[in-house]
Amino acid sequence: MNLLNIEGAVIPVSGGASGIGLAICKRLRAEGAIPLLLDFNAQSLASAVREVYPEASEPGRYGYLLDVSDSKAVDACFADIQRDHGPVTHAVANAGIAQGASVLEITDEQWQRVMSVNLNGVMYFCRAAARQLVEAKQGAIVTTASIAGLMVKKERIAYTSSKAAIVNMTRSMATDLGAYGIRVNAVAPGVIETSMQKDKPASVMQATRERVPLERLGSPDEIAKVVLFLLSDMSSYITGQTIVADGGLT
Ligand code: NAI
Repeated sequence: MNLLNIEGAVIPVSGGASGIGLAICKRLRAEGAIPLLLDFNAQSLASAVREVYPEASEPGRYGYLLDVSDSKAVDACFADIQRDHGPVTHAVANAGIAQGASVLEITDEQWQRVMSVNLNGVMYFCRAAARQLVEAKQGAIVTTASIAGLMVKKERIAYTSSKAAIVNMTRSMATDLGAYGIRVNAVAPGVIETSMQKDKPASVMQATRERVPLERLGSPDEIAKVVLFLLSDMSSYITGQTIVADGGLT
């Protein structure tokens, strides 16, 4: 019996061109699903698609250039996906940006940019996916929150606010979509080794490692495995939840 039941599933993943999103796409591909990489970085998108689909004669079929903060572009992208692959069966709203500023320093532009990607972008993406999923009366959506949405740190006003909102947005969507058999859950990663962490000084990263009970940072694939679980039939009675994967940090 195949507990995952994910083979052949058409799964758009926003922010699929690097870090956690790319790891999710690789993991889904390894399990026989058809992950679609959606990202606004054209260069990394092209190379990521080749990594996920090394055997494909037309790799371009699996990559879509998209800025998730543009509502019309998100709807157009999902229409393109339906034309190219049929209706989506699952979706992963993973794209996000970090911002380090306190309430005293943050500018309107910084605040609005984080909200437009991390908050608006997640809603636009999930809404477009849900409108295709309701037809099938089944499916699963996963959002990428963060432990920063469950606890706070200094000088992260926009990021922590946006990630806390994703936690409750996920519950709201689960409530709205339950009657259609659609599950919606979030993963809340701890500190994961991706480009998002690359500018932090080595001393800060070492101090973080020492605070994690497992005494190491997480790998992108350790988040991808949680996402696979939440998308698959392994989690068929779980919805509205935020699953923390942080090596015990919180
Ligand atoms: P990353 O920077 O490696 O990947 C993010 C991807 O999203 C990039 O490919 C980027 O081009 C894309 N992206 C950014 N804005 C976009 C937009 N407007 N439209 C489309 N694509 C866009 O970062 P990472 O670490 O893989 O982050 C993925 C998610 O995980 C984010 O939501 C982040 O907040 C979350 N996260 C990351 C943690 C970490 O320690 N790395 C911890 C907790 C949450």
